[in-house]
Amino acid sequence: MAVALVTGAGSGIGAAVARCLARRGDRVACVDVDGDRAAEVAGGIEGSIALAADVTDEAQCENMVAATLDRFGDLDTAVACAGIEKAGDSLVFDIDTFRRVVDVNLTGSFLTARESARAMTANGHGGTIVLIGSINSKVVLPGTAAYASSKGGVLLLGQALAVDFARHGIRVNTVGPGVTDTPMSADSLAHPERRARLMSRTPLDRPAHPDEIAEVVAFLTSDASSFMTGAFLPVDGGWLAT
Ligand SMILES: NC(=O)c1ccc[n+]([C@@H]2O[C@H](COP(=O)([O-])OP(=O)(O)OC[C@H]3O[C@@H](n4cnc5c(N)ncnc54)[C@H](O)[C@@H]3O)[C@@H](O)[C@H]2O)c1
Repeated sequence: MAVALVTGAGSGIGAAVARCLARRGDRVACVDVDGDRAAEVAGGIEGSIALAADVTDEAQCENMVAATLDRFGDLDTAVACAGIEKAGDSLVFDIDTFRRVVDVNLTGSFLTARESARAMTANGHGGTIVLIGSINSKVVLPGTAAYASSKGGVLLLGQALAVDFARHGIRVNTVGPGVTDTPMSADSLAHPERRARLMSRTPLDRPAHPDEIAEVVAFLTSDASSFMTGAFLPVDGGWLAT
């Protein structure tokens, strides 16, 4: 049985990915900075484990991979879903908030991928890594300087890691969700005008269900995508096509 590690697994897309990979038979380490939420999700997935870790912390990332290897003996797949979104006018945007967004979304993705790749390399059989970008890896909305620059960074991080890790048999791809119905987007979707503005940019005229993102992650971490690496796959209801 394959082993997967999913960060941000306590909520939204990460929780959906953890459940989806478990449904296909993976043993899953559910990682989140909120250990209680990770435990709640893992509690609903037979054979999975919950780990508390902040992906911005190098030692905690080392430990989450070590704990996964301790429990399951191997690591085949890593999915970096942990992320935060903070919006605001760039003229007055708080610098600590800017740094935190970049730290979680970009540096956290790097640490998750690097620690996972070290384990995959040590085990000698390679593996698959998926980063979670966004439509904001490619386009911006007003007030998204921190989030969009972090997600733009994730896009190129995925390409750079794909090049660096290819010789180790590790594929790295990035998924770019559009508006997805999770706690992160709940406020926007609950606000009629903001929802209408977002849906006016989404040809399919609805938010994604987190499972619709998870299914694409499952594809990118399966042999069905064996010749794909360094790709950016939008899953956005058509936003980037407009
Ligand atoms: N929801 C959307 O519309 C949408 C669209 C595009 C991209 N995304 C991206 O998808 C990913 C998942 O988002 P979501 O919508 O499921 O959000 P969410 O808020 O529901 O879940 C994010 C999870 O990440 C965890 N997390 C935050 N900081 C962390 C840290 N430092 N270390 C470990 N875990 C941490 C949170 O505790 C939470 O459980 C994020 O990278 C987000 O940017 C979301």
